[in-house]
Parts: sequence; C-alpha cells; structure tokens
Amino acid sequence: MRNELILVLDFGGQYKELIAGMVRKLSVYSEIHPGDLSVEEIRKMNPIGIILTGGPNSVYLPNSSKCDPAIFDLDIPVLGICYGMQMMCGMLGGEVRQSSTGEYGRIAVTVSDNPQSQLFADTGIDKQFFALMSHRDAVTRLPNDFLQTAFTNNCIAACENSAKKLYGIQFHPETKHTEYGSGIFHNFLYEICGAKGDYKLDDYIGTQVEKLRKQVGKDRVLLALSGGVDSSVCASLLSKALPEQLTCIFVDHGFMRQNEGDQIESVFSKRKLNFIRVNAQERFLNKLKHVSEPEAKRKLIGEEFIRVFEEESAKLGDIPFLAQGTIYPDIVESGGKHGAAIKSHHNVGGLPTNLRFTGVIEPLSGLFKDEVRVLGRKLGLPVSLVNRQPFPGPGLAIRIMGEVTLEKLDIIRKADAILREELDRMKKRPSQYFTVLTDTYSVGVKGDERTYSPVIAVRAVTTDDFMTCDYAALPHKILSRVSSRITSEIPQICRVVYDITSKPPATVEWE
Ligand code: XMP
Repeated sequence: MRNELILVLDFGGQYKELIAGMVRKLSVYSEIHPGDLSVEEIRKMNPIGIILTGGPNSVYLPNSSKCDPAIFDLDIPVLGICYGMQMMCGMLGGEVRQSSTGEYGRIAVTVSDNPQSQLFADTGIDKQFFALMSHRDAVTRLPNDFLQTAFTNNCIAACENSAKKLYGIQFHPETKHTEYGSGIFHNFLYEICGAKGDYKLDDYIGTQVEKLRKQVGKDRVLLALSGGVDSSVCASLLSKALPEQLTCIFVDHGFMRQNEGDQIESVFSKRKLNFIRVNAQERFLNKLKHVSEPEAKRKLIGEEFIRVFEEESAKLGDIPFLAQGTIYPDIVESGGKHGAAIKSHHNVGGLPTNLRFTGVIEPLSGLFKDEVRVLGRKLGLPVSLVNRQPFPGPGLAIRIMGEVTLEKLDIIRKADAILREELDRMKKRPSQYFTVLTDTYSVGVKGDERTYSPVIAVRAVTTDDFMTCDYAALPHKILSRVSSRITSEIPQICRVVYDITSKPPATVEWE
C-alpha cells in the first residue's frame, strides 16, 4: 500500500529539506521534486497536497523558474511559501514588486479575523506571533478571489483562495525561528489536505526488508562499513533482511577515537552477518610517514582505504551487489539521481568506480538524517553510535597537525576522551567537539622541571548544518576542568587553548 504523498516542488530555496522533514515528522510522507514538474507527472503521483518552496529569484524576471500553471486547477491543495506564494500570486494575475525595505529576521505577524484562515485555525496559535521573514519582493496586489489572511507592518504575510484550496505564506514556518510553524503545517496537512497520517517509520523496516529480499534473491551483498551513522544503520537493516548473504568490511585505519574500532566490532560481530575487520593501522602509518601537508594526508588516506577495500573484496570472489548508506539529502543535493554510480561524497571516502558490481543497493535513500537515527534505534543499535557526532573519514589523522605518529595518536585519543567525557555531561551540548594536537610547542613547568611540549587546542561548535558554525560559549568552569584534566592526565601536555573562531573564516576541522 502506498503512503499519502505531499509533493514539495523545489524552486531553489535553502529550506526545502526542512519543509519535507517537517511534513514527515507530522506523519505524512513527502518527496522533493524539481519545481517545473509537469502536471501529467504530478497526476501520476497522486499527491494529497503540493508545497511550493522559496527560492532566490524574483518572479517578475523573465527567466525565473515557474511551476506548470495547470497545477492551480488540479483541485489539489497548494501551499506556496515565500517565493512559492509570490510565484502563485504573480501567475494568477496578482502583482509582485520589490519593496523599498525588505523584511529579514523574526517579524511580528498578525492573523486577520475576517476571513479566518484554516491555516491558523488551531486554537493554540496566537493572533500575533513572530515568524522568520527573508524577502525584499512582496505581493502588492492579490489575484482575483484571493483574500489576505495575515499581515505585517510591511507586507501581506498570508493569503488564500480557499474555494480553490490555494494558500500562500510569505514567512518560513519550516524553520524553528517561526512560532507555531509545526501547527501551521499540521493545519495544512490535516485540515486542508485531509491527511490521515499514515507515514510511520515502523513500517519502513518491514517494507524495506521485503523489498531487499525481492531485489537480491539468493545473491550476496557487500557493504563498506565506516562506523558512521549511515553505514551502520544500513548494515543493521541489511543484516535483518539478508543475514546470511551480507558481508561488511570495516577498514580500521587506526585513526578512530578511543575504543571506537572495538565498539563497532562488538556491535556488528554479534549480528548475523559476515563481519570483516581489517586492522590496517601500520599500513596507513607507513603511508603517512614524513607527510605533514593536510591535503596530501587526506588524499593518501583515501587512496589507501580503497586499496585495502579492493584487496579484501577480491578475496571474497564476485559479490554482485554493493550496498551504500546513501541518504535522501545526498540524492536531493546531487540532483535526484539514484544510485547508478558510486558518489564521491559518500562517507566511506569515495569507492573506486571500476569495482564490478551488477547492482547498487541504497536502502536509506528515502530518509533524512534524523529518520536514519530513529531507524537505528528501532534496529537496536546503541545510542552512542546512532547519535554519533560527524567524524571525518580520515579520522584523528587530520586532528594531528603535521606528521602522524603512534605517540601523537595516543596523546590525542586521551585528550579527546577527556573532552568528550566532560562535555557529554552538559544538558545542552554543542553540535560537535574535539581536540586538536597542534604542532606548536610551548614552554611549561611540571613539578620543578621545565617542559617544552605540543599545545592541545579544544574545539567546540554550535551549528545546524555544519556549513557555517559559531564557536560554543562553553562555561569557564568546564573549560578549566578540561584543561586541568588534560594537563594532569597526559604527561606530555602542559598547555591547552580554546579555539574561539567561527566558520567562516575558520573551518570546523583544523586541517
Ligand atoms: P569543515 O572542516 O569543512 O567540516 O568545516 C564540516 C563538517 O564536515 C566534517 N568533515 C568531514 N566529514 N569526511 C567526512 O565525512 C571528511 O573528510 C570531513 N572533513 C570534515 C567535519 O567534522 C564537520 O562536521
């Protein structure tokens, strides 16, 4: 049985994934498709509602992207957000103009009494609330039969033609900066589109297991397991579907954090699957001897990973299927292409394209990251693995500045473990935190002896997307404890500094 579908038509807005994610959180399945999808294709998909996203264009420019105009006559509810509202109003005979002043940030929106829109009908939604606005263009004249349903001091904040089930909002209910955003989506889905709410992740496991068994038959499947969230959840799902047919290769390059390699082994060696851990630290360290330039290190690690993987898969004979932990944002961001080729941004570090497989399996390719985490918990993976912070493919090797050695690895593992232990106790933790072993030496004094040893830098950032970030304003008390523990518990360290740079201009990692 197919789920009810909300179609999110993309006009280039940065929040399309938030929109689709919000809809799914409200138990309705959603998919993102290009904005110019034809009405014939839309009819075939049979959505219960359509959402038009924001976008960077001005609707009055000749080359701005537009939807198929026939979607406004389908008798399917349409919700245009920001550019989506302007485009709908412009296409239906209204007027959109650049205003003298834009609205950016949290702006007070007032809901009109007459008419009262079903979008704001939830009794929990206040008559006035703050909403995220980010626009200079605005609808200055509504199309015939449209009414204003909310406003700000400067613009029409919402409008509708309820008889034709066409709704527009100028603000962004999909972001957490808008109050009652979830309530507004709830009203659109349940009051206007008549959704039943039949999308549940519980069903995802069962449906995928059945689908995988059908697709693979009695053949074997190979998975490169990195220990990251996506490949771990993928391994777990495949082991449920095809326990005897799955082989996972975990190439341990020796740059994992304290006990991490063993944890991965202990989780997966208990499951019904063929688990191969290749301890390749010596091999990787040899490759990195005398190499200190960051890009050279990354490249060598990536290449060596591929060599080890190739050697191991060759030993296993011809396995026809390769499984990958590709998730929905990977697909959306690469233009909607499903797993025909192995993508270079994949979290195992880009497998070679000339590996011979008859088929590529991507059982998570319909899910967002937070859904993958929920699925991981349902599949019984430990919380520490499922909620794992991002960890770069080259691991600690790019958190040691300069040449990587066993002694330096030992130091950074201890420092990283101390930092994590201290910050894991915080109620509201930063998004990512780690230590860096710098190649700067400083003078210190331990006991009565002069020391001259490398400086440890602590990095902790808050971010939603890791494309930009702020350094976390950690309480001094915590920073003092971290510094005191690192300098007392690690004999080689006498100085700890805190990185107070945001991205940009810095990046999250130091290399
Ligand atoms: P940067 O340093 O570019 O990092 O600001 C942004 C986010 O990406 C993570 N990162 C990586 N993840 N392979 C990965 O899978 C990599 O090579 C890699 N390099 C950086 C980084 O930890 C941060 O979360």
